[in-house]
Amino acid sequence: MKTAVFSARRYDKTMLAQANDGVGHALLFIEERLSVETARQAAGCVAVCVFVNDTVDAGVLDILARQGTRLVATRSTGYNHIDAAAARRLGIEIVRVTDYSPNSVAEFAVGLLLAVNRKIARASVRTREGNFDLDGLMGFDLHGKTVGVIGTGKIGLIFARIMAGFGCTLVGHDLYPTPAFEALGGRYASVDELLACSDVVSLHCPLLDTTHHIVDAAALARVKRGCVLINTSRGGLVDTDAVVTALKTGQLGGLAIDVYEQEASLFFQDLSSTVILDDVIQRLVSFPNVIVTGHQAFFTVEAIGQIMRTTIDSISAFERGEPLVNRIPG
Ligand code: NAI
Repeated sequence: MKTAVFSARRYDKTMLAQANDGVGHALLFIEERLSVETARQAAGCVAVCVFVNDTVDAGVLDILARQGTRLVATRSTGYNHIDAAAARRLGIEIVRVTDYSPNSVAEFAVGLLLAVNRKIARASVRTREGNFDLDGLMGFDLHGKTVGVIGTGKIGLIFARIMAGFGCTLVGHDLYPTPAFEALGGRYASVDELLACSDVVSLHCPLLDTTHHIVDAAALARVKRGCVLINTSRGGLVDTDAVVTALKTGQLGGLAIDVYEQEASLFFQDLSSTVILDDVIQRLVSFPNVIVTGHQAFFTVEAIGQIMRTTIDSISAFERGEPLVNRIPG
């Protein structure tokens, strides 16, 4: 099936082509993001494959539908970048990748926590310059600390399991509590209680209208002073301006984020030779107790391989008129 693949980086091309080996879909790789301006490049493509910062709103879907697109396959779990209601109206099916190494994201969240708490990135920069001083590098033991997990689904649960291995006390919050979290010794609590008692808070719930800015100024006022916040889920869960204020006052002791609400204009590209116009991200990266990565938590050989295989399988199932197991709910 003729498929336009937007936001196609080198690794997308290599690994999607590998997954397509012997299957034979006609893949048209487009490096630009999908937008009203670029949608025309997908003319004649029944399937369009996108990533998290592509624009898949009603306007773009309307252009795609008129050009003959009937399937949009996102190479991600989250689908908050897609106007699902508009797609339904236009008769376009949306599929995503529900199952791809949740370990990749959970392990990265742990990595971020260790890096920000133990100042690993700072230490590495120092030693490269011949500075072996320890001043400013003191962290705290994770053993015995309380870790709050908001969203105990696939990723949150693995993160919780790893933190249990560190000897942490687990407090969770989820609309659908799972016995698997309690089996780890975790207990469920309200968001307010979780924020008040946790030394570390890690976000693993999806971005929905109900979770937008779940960490806002009011929530930050309730966190245990000096709490470390980890966000590998979606940038929109956090009010970044409020976080900057909380970092300035010391209410937040540290922040490590792999996602950022305004990431669409920044991430997945090399901007090192340009003047970055986003003052908030520039302020954030200037803090000694902040680590920002560019949405790479999913980026492992295992996860990308699975994402590409699932995407090709979904396109094949659609072509054969079979049920779409990864169709987004609703
Ligand atoms: P999942 O669907 O297995 O788990 C999400 C959990 O959040 C569910 O248990 C759900 O009940 C819960 N939840 C929903 N609304 C909530 C609320 N208001 N408060 C608390 N919990 C709530 O999803 P999974 O696979 O664990 O992924 C979680 C998120 O991680 C995704 O939505 C996505 O945004 C993000 N993600 C980030 C990646 C990255 O590279 N940084 C890669 C993959 C996913």
